[in-house]
Amino acid sequence: MFSEITEGTTKVLVPTHLAKSIFYNPKMELCRDIDIASIAAFATLYPSPSLTYIDALAGTGMRGVRVANEVGLQVTINDRSTPAYELIQRNIALNAVEECATAYNENANVLLIQTRYDLVDIDPFGSPVPFLDAACKSVKRLLLITATDTAPLCGAHTGGVRTYGARPLNTEYHAEMGTRILLGAVTRELGRYDKAIQPLLSYASAHFIRLIARVERGAKKADESMQRLGFVAHCFSCGHRFAFSYADMLDLNVENTCALCGQKMRIAGPLYLHPIKKKEFCEEVHEELAKRTLGKKREALKIVNTCILELDIPFYYEHHALCKALKIPPPPISSLLDTLRSAGFSASRTHFSDTAIKTDARIDELKRIVKML
Ligand SMILES: C[S@@+](CC[C@H](N)C(=O)[O-])C[C@H]1O[C@@H](n2cnc3c(N)ncnc32)[C@H](O)[C@@H]1O
Ligand SMILES: [Zn+2]
Repeated sequence: MFSEITEGTTKVLVPTHLAKSIFYNPKMELCRDIDIASIAAFATLYPSPSLTYIDALAGTGMRGVRVANEVGLQVTINDRSTPAYELIQRNIALNAVEECATAYNENANVLLIQTRYDLVDIDPFGSPVPFLDAACKSVKRLLLITATDTAPLCGAHTGGVRTYGARPLNTEYHAEMGTRILLGAVTRELGRYDKAIQPLLSYASAHFIRLIARVERGAKKADESMQRLGFVAHCFSCGHRFAFSYADMLDLNVENTCALCGQKMRIAGPLYLHPIKKKEFCEEVHEELAKRTLGKKREALKIVNTCILELDIPFYYEHHALCKALKIPPPPISSLLDTLRSAGFSASRTHFSDTAIKTDARIDELKRIVKML
């Protein structure tokens, strides 16, 4: 029924295909590797005598057991499925971390409402929304959230407004839009408990979005974090796009005709407009990744390194789509970035897509520069 594997430096029993009642996804090893480095980085940069961590939807318990074994925090590992709970207990024993790890067989929301944890990790099937209220009430210092319901978050089908209270648009930068809509929803939920969000590392990879965000207490800080929400206007005719604040929206202080082509702009949001990562934190995560034994080290280093260098602009441009619209063969991305920089613009790659760039150049300027290459 079970086979033993190793992730990081932790041994874990995982279900074979016969034990379908317990969830195990080998594709999330990359996410778990980045988590281990991020939690270690957090403990270094924001030290506290004894940090408590909860893996509230644990499946095999692999994530929580790794946090106990590889970072040494005091962990609670919970799953409401009884076979999963029994496997969590076996995985705790297999790594001899009984002194710092406790298994629970509860509804995650009940546990989170009853107890406050320094670090709260929510890794559900699909949307984290059913757990956001309890997670935001419980968390004291760091929130780690996965979403795999990328369709409503990214605008591929309806449901964004119902689930996240925000409208996504299905643009070429939908992965970033989904990440920022999720951050916006978490900001509002934390605000209800007078808590403020500070994103430390937010990324999207394959089928999932992962947020790692510091949480601070205080109504004033919470008010300030709400001011980081806003909207993105997008013209589907010429590709022009810009961001604007909540205050501008409430004051109807927004031009909804495209300044470049005169068509109607579509509006997405509310979403989180400020930086979705903290550079110093990501650098510490990079160091942690580099010195650890990890199965997905190369991929993890690439994502985190690109996040470090990525411009804090809330959208990106797909290079191939841009060149297709201009009916020209795409020049190398590196020459486009160099040319933009020598023309006085900021420009970077983005971890959201290997074939996209971020720049503060407007799309008409960008098109002019691409055509020159
Ligand atoms: C995506 S899996 C977790 C995977 C795991 N975090 C990992 O890294 O391998 C989601 C888990 O949540 C559990 N679950 C679903 N609803 C729950 C609830 N309300 N309370 C506690 N556990 C729940 C499921 O039994 C399942 O094991
Ligand atoms: Zn336009």
